[in-house]
Parts: sequence; structure tokens; C-alpha cells
Amino acid sequence: MTDTITVVDNRTGREYTLPIVDGTIRASDLAQIRAEGDDHGLMAYDPAYLNTASCRSTITFIDGDKGILRYRGYPIEQVAETASFLETAYLLLEGELPTATQLAAWEDDVKYHTYVHTNITKFLSGFRYDAHPMGMLLGAVGALSTFYPDAKDIHDPHSRYVQRVRLMAKVPTIAAFLFRHSRGLPYVFPRNDLGYIGNFVNMTFEIGGKHEPNPVLQRALEILLILHADHEQNCSTSAVRSVGSSQVDPFSAVSAGIAALYGPLHGGANEAVLRMLDEIGDVANVPAFIESVKAGKGRLMGFGHRVYKSYDPRAKLIKRVADDVFEQTGLNPKLKIAVELERIALEDEYFVSRRLYPNVDFYSGLIYQAMGYPTDYFTVLFALGRLPGWIAQWEEMLRDKEQKIARPRQIYVGAAERPFVPLAERG
Ligand code: SDX
Repeated sequence: MTDTITVVDNRTGREYTLPIVDGTIRASDLAQIRAEGDDHGLMAYDPAYLNTASCRSTITFIDGDKGILRYRGYPIEQVAETASFLETAYLLLEGELPTATQLAAWEDDVKYHTYVHTNITKFLSGFRYDAHPMGMLLGAVGALSTFYPDAKDIHDPHSRYVQRVRLMAKVPTIAAFLFRHSRGLPYVFPRNDLGYIGNFVNMTFEIGGKHEPNPVLQRALEILLILHADHEQNCSTSAVRSVGSSQVDPFSAVSAGIAALYGPLHGGANEAVLRMLDEIGDVANVPAFIESVKAGKGRLMGFGHRVYKSYDPRAKLIKRVADDVFEQTGLNPKLKIAVELERIALEDEYFVSRRLYPNVDFYSGLIYQAMGYPTDYFTVLFALGRLPGWIAQWEEMLRDKEQKIARPRQIYVGAAERPFVPLAERG
């Protein structure tokens, strides 16, 4: 037995033996399979990349059937239990857990880059008061590329490190500023005497020079960011890799990730879950809502996953975080509706047969709301968590000798050649 696959092209009777490596065949190996007159050979066709590996990665491992998620080999449960968010970011970015000295140096580097150019505040003031925070984040992070032209030097490891620090340090500041902009509140500037999470929370919620930090809520937020930090080749990470493959600067590549995450089928789902719970309104309405989903009238937001065909391990951990948060803030009344939705869905053939389980977005929004964040801000918090993953994946793509500019092929099904019709002769 060999790690190969032998195929017979019945159009020509020719036999081909293709190598199997890491459970895959190379799509380019199909090009040798040609019929008469077919000078391109076979291509693989995989809309939405349902069964296509785009890269080799050492960053995150997911087993969708077993509900396993590991960052650089460490189980997510253990990372979330003990690590800080910056420690987790270091692990994703460097590939190893930092020593105390390495962590302290990394924290200092980030701490001393939290200020943004004051023109960013003028940029933000151009948005309407009711602009969606993800639209503002998308614009502001992309704009950072114009303040740091050295970020174009993507082949220089030191420059990549400087941009990584700038992103990790400045995106929370921008996220807090756009929160304040939406409320017509003055910006609260970064404080170096506070930790990463404490500084973000203070820039967001401080009023009149004061914000009493709640350590339980801050740790809960930190765990949520850790749980969102990376998730292999999801839609937004693939966007960062694809845009980054053109060798654009990392700020522009990350802004592409923010744009992808904005969508309701991806990071925007945590916001969509809360709107769904508001629409249901009462536990008594859950059965009717479930029936409407089964009738194809909309989706049960926060349920289902392309990879997890069992319970998303992050959703399990988030439910535990919810208990700690609601102990501090009082129970979010919508929790009862969510729990009833989950109970019914996990017993209902429609969801069971499609292996639909709660994903990371099902409960996270309830927690963010209890912490005082508005619904349209939830995906910004997802982006803050995913940031180190996007950067780590961008760097891995750049260093991967097999990668080049992403440019998929297509199957052309449009019009055959036809003569142009002058305007005067068109019907
Ligand atoms: C995230 O990829 C990642 O890793 C993403 C993420 C990350 O960390 O980066 O985990 C974060 O994006 C989580 C997903 C958040 N999105 C939602 O909660 C939105 C609701 N869920 C979906 O729309 C859906 O489940 C997806 C988008 C998550 C996955 O979609 P797939 O894999 O393309 O599945 P599909 O749309 O082909 O659905 C398969 C079937 C369909 O039914 P049939 O056509 O076979 O009859 O399942 C149904 C779908 O209609 N289905 C749902 C459903 N999700 C899928 N039906 C009702 N409610 C749902 N939520």
C-alpha cells in the first residue's frame, strides 16, 4: 500500500497516480489529467472552499467532530483558565509560551504604543453618531496604514514586529474611541499604569476621571478575548491571508479581516443573536420561532459551524464565564430565552440531523450586554480578540515558501464570443 491515489480518466482511458500528502492531493497535480484539446487539464472546483486546504499552519488545531481547539498545541480550556490575553497573543504570534522576562518585555512594548496619532480622532469625528462601530473600526484600522508607511516593509522581521505591536496596542484605543464617539463622550486616553484589559475598559467607560474596575468582569472579558483569539482558516482569517498575499501592509490586511468579520454569518452573529432574542421577546414564543426557522424563515443565529459538528468548545467555556458575569451584574433576562432555544434545538431532528450546535457567538453577546456594551459593539469585541490570530496567520503566510499571491481560477459559464453592438443599434 502506498500514499497515492490512482485515477482512470474514462475520457481517454489513461491512468494517473497522484501522491497523497497529509490527507490531501495537490490540486495542481490534477492539471496533468487532460482530454484531447484540453490544454489546461483538470481543475478542482470547490465553491466556498468546503473541502479545500489553503495552507499549512502550525498555529491552531480544531477537531470539529470531537470539539477540540488548541492554540499551538495547548488545549483552549487550559489557556483560557490561566493565561492573560497578551500571553495568549504572544503564544499565537511566537509559537511558544513566553518566559516571565519575554512576557514583561512584550507587555511593555504594547503598553508604550497605545496612543494613536491625534488625526485619527479627526478621522473618527467624520462618522455620524449612529455609524456602525464595525464600519468605523474597518475604516480607522485601514487608515493606520497611512500613518505608518514603514509598515510596507513586510519582508523585514523587525518592521513586522513593530507593526504587530502597533496593531495590538492601538486597535483597543481606536475601539474605545469609537465607542466614545457613538456616545458623544470625550475620548479617554490610554493609561500606562493599567493593564491591557483595564486600560481598554477605562478608555471605554471612564466618566469624570473615574471608573471603578470590576476585576471579575475584566477577567471575564479577557477570557472572552482569549477564546476568540484564533480559529484557523475562518472567513476573516482567510481574508487577511488573501489580501496580505498581495504584499500589502498588515494594517490594510487586518482591515480586510475586520470587513469579513462584520458579516452576520461570521463575527456579526453575536450581534444577530441578541437581535434574534429581542425579536423572540419571551420564552413562550420560542417554539413558534423554532418552527419558523425549520420552515426556512431565517436562521437560528449563534448555531451551526462549518467545522464544529459538535458543541463548540468555546461556547461551553463562555457559558461558564456567563455564570461569573451574571453573578456580578444580575441575570440577563434574555438568558432564559437563549437557554430554552438551545434546549429545544438540541432535541429537534432538524438541528440534530444537520449537526447544528451553539457556536462561540450564541452566548457571548448576552455577556457583553451585561457588561454594558451595546449590541452593535459586540463584533468589535470579537475583532479585538481575533487580532493576534489575524496577525499570526498573516506572518505565517508571508514566511510560507509555498504561498504566493492568492488568485483562484473559475469555471466560465458566461456568453460565448459575440460582436459588440453600437449604442444606436441596441433595441
Ligand atoms: C463564527 O469558521 C469559523 O471558525 C468561524 C468562527 C470563528 O471563530 O472564526 O467560529 C466564528 O463565524 C461562528 C459562526 C457564527 N455564525 C452564525 O451563528 C450564523 C448562523 N449559522 C450559520 O449561518 C451557519 O451555520 C454557518 C455560516 C456558521 C455555517 O454554514 P455552513 O457550514 O456553510 O452550513 P450551511 O449554510 O451549508 O448549512 C447547512 C444546513 C443548511 O440546511 P439545508 O440547506 O441542508 O436544508 O444547515 C442549515 C442550512 O440551512 N443551517 C441552519 C443554520 N446553520 C446552518 N439552519 C438554521 N439555523 C442555523 N444557524
